[in-house]
Parts: sequence; structure tokens; C-alpha cells
Amino acid sequence: MDGFEWNKFAAGGLLAAIAILVAIILTGEMFRVAPLEAQAYAIEGVEEEGGAAAGPAVAEGPSLAELLATASAEKGASVFKKCATCHTIEKGGAAKTGPNLWGVVGAKHAHVAGFGYSAALAGKSGEAWSWDALDAWLKSPKEAIPGNKMSFAGISKPEERAALLAYLNQNSDSPLPLPKVEPKAETAEAPAEGAAPAEAAPAEGAAPAEAAPAAQ
Ligand code: HEC
Repeated sequence: MDGFEWNKFAAGGLLAAIAILVAIILTGEMFRVAPLEAQAYAIEGVEEEGGAAAGPAVAEGPSLAELLATASAEKGASVFKKCATCHTIEKGGAAKTGPNLWGVVGAKHAHVAGFGYSAALAGKSGEAWSWDALDAWLKSPKEAIPGNKMSFAGISKPEERAALLAYLNQNSDSPLPLPKVEPKAETAEAPAEGAAPAEAAPAEGAAPAEAAPAAQ
């Protein structure tokens, strides 16, 4: 075979390879399955990943009261830098994009008279900003009070929110007392366990006492 023949062979092989490639691409395209955009059929009680119904199996961290008990207002002051573009904190401070925040912990929602609050926030003016309400607000303003106009994504770390709350609470004429830390279930049960041997003790001691009169 001369060189020309070899070239024909090579060209034939190349063509075959290209044909196979094209076939693979085409069939791949044909059988490509578009990813589901939503659950194809709803199963009752089952929410999408990360939803509330994900189950109580997720270990709960310390409660807000526990976090507040050890929260550092000093750290909170540095977290407040995220807020300072829109809020002043000092007494009588001016409104920026958001209202002045002096004394907001424990105050009613929409607590600054004359500030142009959204209808969503103004609608809650009968309710006080409790620790829990503020914590939820700072975690995700959008979820806590839908329709409000504070363009802030939220602070995901519970410790950071607690520190910030401690700082906000300090900046007030009448800081709220910290919430009570509920005793954990284990510590509440502990005395009951300790009581068991104490009950058994008199019973054992009583046996010889009963026997004594019989011996006389
Ligand atoms: C981009 C500007 C912006 C940032 C950043 C921001 N806020 Fe706000 N904030 C607002 C606005 C605007 C409102 C009023 C919302 C409404 O009326 O719906 C508001 C309202 C509030 C309120 C309710 C006040 C009241 O009188 O009821 C609190 C509390 C608050 N912000 C705390 C914070 C804290 C703490 C931070 C920092 C973690 C923060 N905000 C960051 C703009 C902002």
C-alpha cells in the first residue's frame, strides 16, 4: 500500500469516529432529563430541604436567654457597624434611612414618632419589641415582618444577634431585665434521682426496730 492508500484508511477511521461522536451527542440530547423544578407530587407533611418540617432531629443550640446571659455588649457595638449606615443609636440621634434606635428594646414597634415607617411595621405598633421579636427581626427582617422596608438580609449567627441585642438594650433609658434562663430538663430531674436512696434507707433501718419488740 502506498501513502495515498494509508491516507484513505486514516480518513475513513476519522469519519467513523466523528459519526460516532455526533451520534452520542444527539442521543444524549434526546434523553437528557430536565431537572425537576418542583416536587413532582406533593407528599403531605414533607417540606423541601431545610424546611420547617425537616424534623426535630436537628440539635437545638443554646436558647436566646442563655446566649443573652453571656452576651457581650462590647462585641455588639462592633456588630452594630452593620446597622450604622442606616441607624443612629445615641439618644435623640437623627433618623437616617432607618429610625434612631435609642431605647428600642422593649419599646413598641415603630417606636419613633414622625418616622415614615412601612405599613407593615406601623401595623404592629401595638406590640412591644420583645427579646424574641427583635431576635427574629435581626435574623431575617423579611421573614419576621413581611412587607417591611428595612433592606437588610439579617444576621445568621445567634451569638452575634445576642451580642447586638445586649448592646441595643444598653442604649436605653430603661434597659429591660435579661430573660430568665429556663432550667434544662436534666438538671430538673436530678434531685428526684438523688431522693431514691434516701427513701430506701428508713425501710432498711426499720427492719431491726420491728424485730426488737418481738425479741423482748
Ligand atoms: C439599609 C438600611 C438598614 C440597615 C443596614 C439596617 N436597618 Fe434597621 N431599619 C431600616 C429601615 C428603613 C427601618 C424601618 C422599616 C420599616 O418601616 O418597614 C428599620 C427598622 C429597624 C427596627 C425597628 C425600629 C422600630 O422603631 O420599630 C429595628 C429594631 C432595626 N431596624 C434594627 C436594625 C439593626 C440592629 C440593624 C443592624 C443589624 C439594622 N436595623 C440594619 C433600615 C436599615
